[in-house]
Amino acid sequence: MTRLDGAERLIEVYRRKAAHYDLTSRLYPVPGYPQRSQRLRTVRALGLRAGATVVEVACGTGLNFPLLEDAIGPGGRLIGVDLTDAMLDRARSRVAAHGWRNVELVQAEAAGFAFPRGVDAILSTYALTQVPGCGAVVAHGAAALVRGGRWAVLDLKTPDRTPAWLTRVGVAAVGRSASLDEWIGRRPWEVIRAAMREGLVDAGWEELCFGTAFLATGTGAGAGESGSR
Ligand SMILES: C[S@@+](CC[C@H](N)C(=O)[O-])C[C@H]1O[C@@H](n2cnc3c(N)ncnc32)[C@H](O)[C@@H]1O
Repeated sequence: MTRLDGAERLIEVYRRKAAHYDLTSRLYPVPGYPQRSQRLRTVRALGLRAGATVVEVACGTGLNFPLLEDAIGPGGRLIGVDLTDAMLDRARSRVAAHGWRNVELVQAEAAGFAFPRGVDAILSTYALTQVPGCGAVVAHGAAALVRGGRWAVLDLKTPDRTPAWLTRVGVAAVGRSASLDEWIGRRPWEVIRAAMREGLVDAGWEELCFGTAFLATGTGAGAGESGSR
């Protein structure tokens, strides 16, 4: 199985989801999950100021864009990157509806995306653990950040104290899928945590909602210095 096969399959999955994503994502991963407060917490962790340049990796339909635009204002720059054309089409409609003129949308595989240098902040929500090479994405982003720039990753994980058999019962209950099993076995959140520790200073790690999600944060050492903050 090649990487391209995997990417094409994923694009097909999100093409099917795109039209209803903003509604159905409210039920993700279960109805009532505190997704909105987790998104707010993530954007706050970026410490954004007016005029900042932000990259959102795997931005989907742009559900975080209103929070980001509020923080950076019209003088800022927002770059949304995603693999799926149909998700980006939705994001484009959101941008047009709000009249934002400072958003660029890029269709790209996250691990192959060339981050511009001098970025003030990078985030990814509910996506990076499903990206092949998620550790490389963190490293590439860290290398693009200005000194003091911030990286924040919010995503789901399995609770550490849950026995493996119980996790599998939970997975079976919500609909067993081979890829979910693979995700649980691979524990990509640990790859992300290690990459944040490796490439950033002040790496932080918070478990959210009984260990079913995490917020990983870190600060750039200035490897991508060339812009201004
Ligand atoms: C669950 S959605 C999350 C969207 C958005 N971040 C949010 O918080 O609503 C996952 C998104 O990740 C994108 N994605 C998955 N794998 C990707 C990859 N390798 N590179 C770029 N985007 C990817 C999908 O196209 C989809 O839009």
